[in-house]
Amino acid sequence: MSQSPNDASGREATSLRDILCGSLSAADIGRKVELCGWVARRREHGEHLAFVDLRDYSGIVQCVIDGAHDVRSEYVLRVSGTVRARPEGTINDRLSTGAIEVGDCEIEVLASAEPPPFGLDDRTEVDEQIRLRNRFLDLRRPRLQKNLRVRARVNRAIRSAMDDQGFVEVETPILWAPTPEGAREFAVPSRLHHGSFYVLPQSPQLAKQLLMVGGIDRYYQIARCMRDEDLRADRQFEFTQLDLEASFVTQDDIVGFATRAVQDAAEAATGERPGQMATMTWRESMDRFGTDKPDLRLDGELIDLSATFGNSEVKAFAAPIVKALVIPGGATTTRSQLDTWTDRAKSMGAGGLAWFRVTREEGVLGFDSPLDRFLSDQERSAMLEITSASEGDLVLCVADEWRVAVDVLGTLRSQILSLPVGDGPACYVWITEFPLFDGLDAEGKPQAAHHPFTMPLEEDLDLFETDPLAVRSQAYDLVLNGWELGSGSVRIHRADIQRKVFRALGVTDQEAEERFGFLLNAFRYGAPPHAGFAFGIDRLVAIFCGEENIREVIAFPKTQSGTDLMTGAPARIAPSALNDLGLRPFPVES
Ligand code: AMO
Repeated sequence: MSQSPNDASGREATSLRDILCGSLSAADIGRKVELCGWVARRREHGEHLAFVDLRDYSGIVQCVIDGAHDVRSEYVLRVSGTVRARPEGTINDRLSTGAIEVGDCEIEVLASAEPPPFGLDDRTEVDEQIRLRNRFLDLRRPRLQKNLRVRARVNRAIRSAMDDQGFVEVETPILWAPTPEGAREFAVPSRLHHGSFYVLPQSPQLAKQLLMVGGIDRYYQIARCMRDEDLRADRQFEFTQLDLEASFVTQDDIVGFATRAVQDAAEAATGERPGQMATMTWRESMDRFGTDKPDLRLDGELIDLSATFGNSEVKAFAAPIVKALVIPGGATTTRSQLDTWTDRAKSMGAGGLAWFRVTREEGVLGFDSPLDRFLSDQERSAMLEITSASEGDLVLCVADEWRVAVDVLGTLRSQILSLPVGDGPACYVWITEFPLFDGLDAEGKPQAAHHPFTMPLEEDLDLFETDPLAVRSQAYDLVLNGWELGSGSVRIHRADIQRKVFRALGVTDQEAEERFGFLLNAFRYGAPPHAGFAFGIDRLVAIFCGEENIREVIAFPKTQSGTDLMTGAPARIAPSALNDLGLRPFPVES
């Protein structure tokens, strides 16, 4: 899904150079050129002749330098010379400029350089800690050059898609108050108001809703968001969203706006424009794939065997639902691996995991499984027929409550059949109708699945009192290859519905006033119906670039443990600075 890093556009000429190294070709033979770049490699040829590979972001070109010069790896040079064909037998097919070289070179050393701590080509595997400590050198390598340029193209495409659709770019504050995304927040102590703190926004959620009250109508922002949560491949403390909000719209309008932005971004990054995107309700996604982030590249769906085992003798199958998953070719799975999966199922609340290796004896399909002897012939053949399993496959079954069964098999499906996120086709899917509440807390109160301003489906309003966990919301996610790209919702703009939701969540009037008073106050002055969405640009670009970790598309990312190895952040600050902020250092054990 990636493209060449060479974005040379003809506008690269400056007062010091007139063309980029990587854009030279046989068409330039005879042309006098001035180039600037770093020495990627120097090779001696006899006593007075040296070959210098000169590198800039667009690529490398070989320069032939006559006379003795003190030129070493990563020196910064300005080279003037004439493009000529390489002598026969010295053509390098692996290099885009491999048919030519620059001869009769005059060189000017613009800066000398110490030997770099690692090779700056893409062939050398370098420990990530060393790369991050020297990110300014890592950035010179083709991988990051390419990724950051793809990212810039994506940003540009998004801006122009939003602009085309009538959205206005508005910047919202970084020094702000708590936002309702639910992660731990970063706080910034105030110098002027000792003991008080700004909170860095987890997203511009409340600000953009206020912009709707303010009549902006269609807002967007390529917004930095900060969340103090555990880091993993698709999570950083600081990340970037395309954030959008619009008034007088429905869910379908928002899905349309965001789809267009993603399609344009994909086309700009990869050259391929995604077609229409699939849509599925949360319930369907959970039922078929056991997750609200289905990876539609993977074969196999969860199969319902409840009808087969309704009156079964098999005790393990006496449950509200029996779900199955076929692992093609999985019959060779070892017993210890099956035990590990069983433990995983139990840790997720299931009674166990039933497994059946599909065998063929004397031409007849059957099972190798501890449970096989309890199956009737009818159950065995129904299982084979409904699952369409064939010899050499493995069938995994969980009998339990619906949610437990689908969660367990969905987790195993993603784990066992997983593919690198950038491989194969890009499978986008919109997931809609998420539950409004996400289970009950210890006191039996429903927990908000998204933020508390998410609009319930009007037809489910009556379920608040009778079956709150069945209330669906007008919330939607966009998923790409098993990664959650973004989410959004229609917001509550009516005070009576907001009261109902707060009451269900056990949020008192006083708490609501303390946490969101400024928003609720604004809503008293005429709130238009509004809805919005945000998707993670880091995640989108990582998938376009075929990267498994969003660090690879961020210029200066943090490590897994949240540190910046280059600057040393987070670091202690001077006692006098703490004093100014009205803070006293905590004694830290060393
Ligand atoms: P949400 O919290 O789902 O929604 O975030 C939207 C998208 O932002 C990206 N994302 C992250 N990317 C990298 N690192 C992180 N730590 C991280 N956290 C989130 C994901 C995610 O899908 N205000 C709502 C949107 C709305 O309702 O309009 C919001 O922020 O790709």
